Amino acid sequence: MSMDEKLRELRDLREKSKLGGGIERIKKQHGKGKLTARERINLFLDKGSFVEVDPFVVHRSTEFGLDKRRVLGDGVVTGYGRVNGRLVFLFSQDFTVFGGSLGEMHALKICKIMDLAMKVGAPVIGLNDSGGARIQEGVVSLAGYAWIFYRNTLASGVIPQISIVMGPCAGGAVYSPALTDFVVMVKKTSYMFITGPQVIKAVTGEEITFEDLGGADAHNRISGVAHFAAINEEEAFRTVRELLSYIPSNNVEDPPRVKPTDNPKRVEPGLREIVPEDPYKPYNMKDILRMIFDDGKILEVHEHWAKNIIVGFARLNGYSVGVVANQPDHLAGALDINASVKAARFVRFCDAFNIPLVVFVDVPGFLPGTAQEHGGIIKHGSKLLYAFCEATVPRLTVIVRKAYGGAYDVLNSKHVGADVNFAWPSAEIAVMGPEGATNIVFRKEITSSENPDEARERLVKEYRKRFANPYIAAQLGYIDDVIDPAETRPKLINALEILLTKRERLPPKKHGNIPL
Ligand code: HXC
Repeated sequence: MSMDEKLRELRDLREKSKLGGGIERIKKQHGKGKLTARERINLFLDKGSFVEVDPFVVHRSTEFGLDKRRVLGDGVVTGYGRVNGRLVFLFSQDFTVFGGSLGEMHALKICKIMDLAMKVGAPVIGLNDSGGARIQEGVVSLAGYAWIFYRNTLASGVIPQISIVMGPCAGGAVYSPALTDFVVMVKKTSYMFITGPQVIKAVTGEEITFEDLGGADAHNRISGVAHFAAINEEEAFRTVRELLSYIPSNNVEDPPRVKPTDNPKRVEPGLREIVPEDPYKPYNMKDILRMIFDDGKILEVHEHWAKNIIVGFARLNGYSVGVVANQPDHLAGALDINASVKAARFVRFCDAFNIPLVVFVDVPGFLPGTAQEHGGIIKHGSKLLYAFCEATVPRLTVIVRKAYGGAYDVLNSKHVGADVNFAWPSAEIAVMGPEGATNIVFRKEITSSENPDEARERLVKEYRKRFANPYIAAQLGYIDDVIDPAETRPKLINALEILLTKRERLPPKKHGNIPL
């Protein structure tokens, strides 16, 4: 064979590989409102940057007639490319080949690019669209999943891992996305569950649709398994590209700094007006955040779950920061089980990847109730405490209004290692709210009074005046300064910039034992 003929053969093979399961199945994929594995890659990466690895891999199984059905690439497209010029590795499951199901060689292709990503320190993005373990390959498929889970775990905290679920993701297959840092789901076309509607019906009699059980809404609003819900595949890619812009490529790099486009000295008098005078009145914490961060932008993570706390990425003078903020507009901003878990996971991600933390506090305390106590708020709340205690990145706090009880300690207080803590004049920092405190401390005085209601009201007022302010904490140095809300942005930028060289190490250990 001449070189020309050999090159023609190579071209033909490559074209064949690109077709995956063939034209008919591609049409079917489009008919379901889904793009193909390759179309997705082209849409996601910088134009023309994709370099494919392993296009000629085929399975080596012979069971169930598989020896007669070998498809080049084995149902997953793998390789690397660029997002805004930065290197990422990715795999994209091809539903047109055996329903994107995972067998031995499919798994090994994914493992190969994960290993390479670990060696060079770049993120791995998984585009999941798969019928799960390739049934014909049996236990080898289970091994294949476990090889991936093992790598997901070793890579955790070393390189960012992001999963985009764009089709089925069922059974044990869900554990790979679950082990990664962020899960993005596409509405209407993706679902995740351990056991599907048929099994649930057989075991419990309960009837439920795929969408209601494990669709994007279910996992973004109810379970918290997913961090982002996209209306379509394009939006999912835009979200991941934006997310990557805030985070470094690995745990020894700093996050990328963008050229600042907002005035670092910007003073916002509007910030003086947001917190209502009445301490029981809610307001939207997002109004505060938008006035403080660069260009009013924040990329919320877990936007639809545990809305009583806000977490997300933003920038201060071009530097990436992780934001954690109570949301008084929802459950009065109280910390409950879900909010604690949501914030703890976010704090740990930021700490693992050198992203400074900025925390805004307005918390009346932990949410009371048997559902919370019996659900294990003690254990779950302590996750957040633990996450803050062990975080060594620069840590800033602004107490906006309430900071009561244990929640004051937990939410990035000086005592758990925060670096710079500010309070607004509207801050109330005390062991508990005026009503609760008065009822306990002055119980005898109130009950023995001729007019208990009037006595209670008077004592609450006195307590509020004396204790519900930032100055007792400021006298003790627990707050570095009480600041004019209007000046929060320049104050935070100044503090962040002095902290950029912060170096802090935890005592050496194999690993801690976070209360799971
Ligand atoms: C082999 C599979 C497959 C699988 C789908 N296909 N799932 N082949 N192993 N797991 C093939 C189909 O045979 C079909 O092949 C093609 O993919 C498309 O499938 P359809 O059924 O036509 O597509 P659709 O109607 O969209 O249904 C999608 C589906 C369904 C809901 C995912 O295919 C399905 O229920 N598959 C089985 C899911 C499953 O039970 N997987 C195992 C879970 S256990 P042709 O040749 O006709 O195109 C598991 C354990 C993991 O995953 C454990 C890890 C620890």
